[in-house]
Amino acid sequence: MNKFKVFCTRKLHSKALDLLSESFDFSFWDNYDKIPKADLISQASDCDGILSMLEDDLSEDTLKNFPNLKVISNYAVGVNNIDHDYCKKMGIQIGNTPDVLSDATADLALALLLSVNRKLPASFQSIKNGEWKAWSPIGFLGQDLRGKTLGIVGLGRIGACFAHKCQKLYGNKIIYYNRNKSKYEQELEAKKVSLEELCKQSDIISLHCPLNSESENLFDKKLFDMMRPNCIFINTARGQIHNEKDLYEALKNNKICAAGLDVTNPEPMSPDAPLLELSNIAITPHIGSAVDKTREEMAMIAANNLIKYFTANN
Ligand code: GLV
Ligand code: GLV
Repeated sequence: MNKFKVFCTRKLHSKALDLLSESFDFSFWDNYDKIPKADLISQASDCDGILSMLEDDLSEDTLKNFPNLKVISNYAVGVNNIDHDYCKKMGIQIGNTPDVLSDATADLALALLLSVNRKLPASFQSIKNGEWKAWSPIGFLGQDLRGKTLGIVGLGRIGACFAHKCQKLYGNKIIYYNRNKSKYEQELEAKKVSLEELCKQSDIISLHCPLNSESENLFDKKLFDMMRPNCIFINTARGQIHNEKDLYEALKNNKICAAGLDVTNPEPMSPDAPLLELSNIAITPHIGSAVDKTREEMAMIAANNLIKYFTANN
C-alpha cells in the first residue's frame, strides 16, 4: 500500500500517526492549530487520501486542487465540512468516526444541562464579583428535573445516549423530532412529534441532528417563541442549527430559561459575542468528544478508515 500518499491536517495521537506512517507515504501538519487553507492546498496537492478535522473547509473550492484524491477520513462524526455533491461527482469516499464519541458527547450535553439548570456560570461569576454576602434560601434556584419532558431533535446514537442518561437520572418523558422513525423509539418509550409540538411541550430541548440544508438555521425566533419560559435549550451538534441572534433575544427577554452550547456560529466564537454577556448560558468551545480515550479511539478509527479503503481498492 506504500504507494498511496496520505496527508493528515493536524497532529494526532502518536499511535495513529505511527500506524499511518507504516501504512502509507504519510505526512501531517505537525501542529495543534488549524492548517491555513493555502498550506493545506500546497501540502495535500498530490494526495490520494486526507485525514481531516471538522473545521477544515473541504468545499469544492479546496477539493478541486486535489486531482488524485480518492478518500477523505474525517476525524469527527459530523461531515458537514465536506462538499458531498462534489465528492459524489468525483467518486471521493467519505469516512467518519461515529459511535465512540456518543457517550462523551452525551455527557457534555448533560454537563451543560446541569450547569445552566443549577446556575453554575452565574453563581461562579457572583463570587468573582464579590456578591456573595449571605447564604440565600432563594438564590440561584434551579428546576427539579424529575419527570420533566425532554425533547430530542435527532434521535440517533448521541441523542439516544443522552436521553438514556436523563431517563435514568430523572425519569424524563422523551419526545423527539426526526425525519424518520427512530430505532431508539421503543427502548426509550419516546414519542415522535412535529417540531412545533416538540418546542411547545419540552422543558428541555437538546439538538443531536446533523447539519444540512434542512437543519441549518432551524431554531430561529419562530421556534424560540413557541418554547416554554422554563425551557432549557442545549446544542452539542452544530452551531449553524440555531440562529445566534434569535437565541440571544430569547434568553435576554426570558422567553426561555437558559441555554448550554458546545457549538457556536461562527466557530471560534468571538470574545465580543453578545451571548457572552448573558448570565443564563454556559458555552464550551466544541469539546463534546474531548475525553482522552474517546479521542484516541477516534484517531485509530480515522486511520483505519483509510487503511480499509486502500486495502479494498488497491
Ligand atoms: C464533533 O462535533 C464531531 O462531529 O465529531
Ligand atoms: C451520531 O453518532 C448519531 O447518530 O447521533
